Amino acid sequence: MDHISLCPLIVLLLCAVILALRKIFKTVIQDHEKSAADIPPGSHGFPVIGETLQFMLSVNSGKGFYEFVRSRRIRYGSCFRTSLFGEAHVFLSTTESARAVLNNESGMFTKRYIKSIAALVGDRSLLCASQHHHKILRSHFINLFSKKSTALMVRNFDELVVDALSGWEHRGTVVLLTDLLQITFKAMCKMLISLENEEELDSLQRDVGFVCEAMLAFPLNLPWTRFHKGIMARGRVMEVLEKTIRERRNETSSHNNNNHHEDFLQQLLAVDSDGSASSSDHSTKLTDAEIKDNILTMIIAGQDTTASALTWMVKYLGENQKVLNFLIEEQTRIAKQASDKPFLELDDLTEMTYASKMVKESLRMASVVPWFPRVVLQDCEMEGYKINKGCNINIDARSIHLDPNVYSEPHKFNPSRRKQKQIVSYHLVWEEEHVLDLIWPKP
Ligand SMILES: *[C@@H]1O[C@H](CO)[C@@H](O)[C@H](O)[C@H]1NC(C)=O
Ligand SMILES: *[C@@H]1O[C@H](CO)[C@@H](O)[C@H](O)[C@H]1NC(C)=O
Repeated sequence: MDHISLCPLIVLLLCAVILALRKIFKTVIQDHEKSAADIPPGSHGFPVIGETLQFMLSVNSGKGFYEFVRSRRIRYGSCFRTSLFGEAHVFLSTTESARAVLNNESGMFTKRYIKSIAALVGDRSLLCASQHHHKILRSHFINLFSKKSTALMVRNFDELVVDALSGWEHRGTVVLLTDLLQITFKAMCKMLISLENEEELDSLQRDVGFVCEAMLAFPLNLPWTRFHKGIMARGRVMEVLEKTIRERRNETSSHNNNNHHEDFLQQLLAVDSDGSASSSDHSTKLTDAEIKDNILTMIIAGQDTTASALTWMVKYLGENQKVLNFLIEEQTRIAKQASDKPFLELDDLTEMTYASKMVKESLRMASVVPWFPRVVLQDCEMEGYKINKGCNINIDARSIHLDPNVYSEPHKFNPSRRKQKQIVSYHLVWEEEHVLDLIWPKP
């Protein structure tokens, strides 16, 4: 073979080599780009403890624990990773991620079972139940919110609030959050177990307070720890609930109708006693442990979040005279129409269109629950980053609520703001999460 006939072969070979090289290069480049994009940006901090120290510092600084998330989102963008208490966490703050994760259409996200929380609220609580158990519990609790019992709640709440506010007139200073916590606590206890005795309410509120504090404390059960205090307080709350259930059963069996109660406990016990006779499905009967754990859960979920949302609302109204004027106008009009009624009724609430917009706007600005935690069940990709199975992901709701691309002038308190249709539905997801997820999360 002479060199001339060799030429095309070499060219061919060269071409092949170049093509192959290009292919290899391309995949290398792609791989390189891909692996650079693989894990979300962020810092794992120190070995083992990660960024736990920084987190604790911002918890104890005047700015609050959300500052930890806020500063990192500004530094790294809408998706970043960190490591807290020995676990990997990713924070996400786009509406797309929020929808994918909260709706769980892919079935890839679940809630983490936290042993220390289960020790405090009980492992029969909705907060800790498995998906199957959760469905059963939820179907029982959803029945509690019939039109009839909601109407009764409106009346009870109105009575309570009028009574509490009339006391404010004679006081020099009112510490809003403290007083509102008391009102919401009373409201929850009335609605759930008809507890109205002041002394019993006070001691129960103290104990529930210990349980709440322990939920945020380091889960070390030694005699001097906050966690231990919470466990002991849980025991006392359980005793109160046991006693209440015993008394109710006695009243029902002795047909003592002087003490007829219209509350959640009564409804749950009624289902309980009818259940075995009328329903063939024994698995749906609630046990005493389920009832007790979930009453405690509902007290905790209903009290704190509602009281802080109300406190923020009063602050926003104080800063926005125009909104306040609109609100007063609407309320005065409704009060006039309903002047013949002794109490506020369910129908009156539906007429408060401006007030209800104002409540939603307050929830948006305050984001009482700043993020929603989930666990990834299998390796997946979010916002172009790879997220490993077992990783904690947190939907940073506060950041979305204050995103100028989602809400124009997000820091302005404007109940009349027009939202894009698309956004409203996301907003509703959170509203449902705000209210429902805490009390009875979607299975
Ligand atoms: C999401 O779906 C998966 C698969 O069906 C399920 O195991 C998981 O519990 C669901 N997550 C939530 C929060 O309901
Ligand atoms: C039920 O209550 C009555 C008093 O109202 C009491 O005498 C009786 O012992 C109680 N029964 C039980 C089983 O607790």
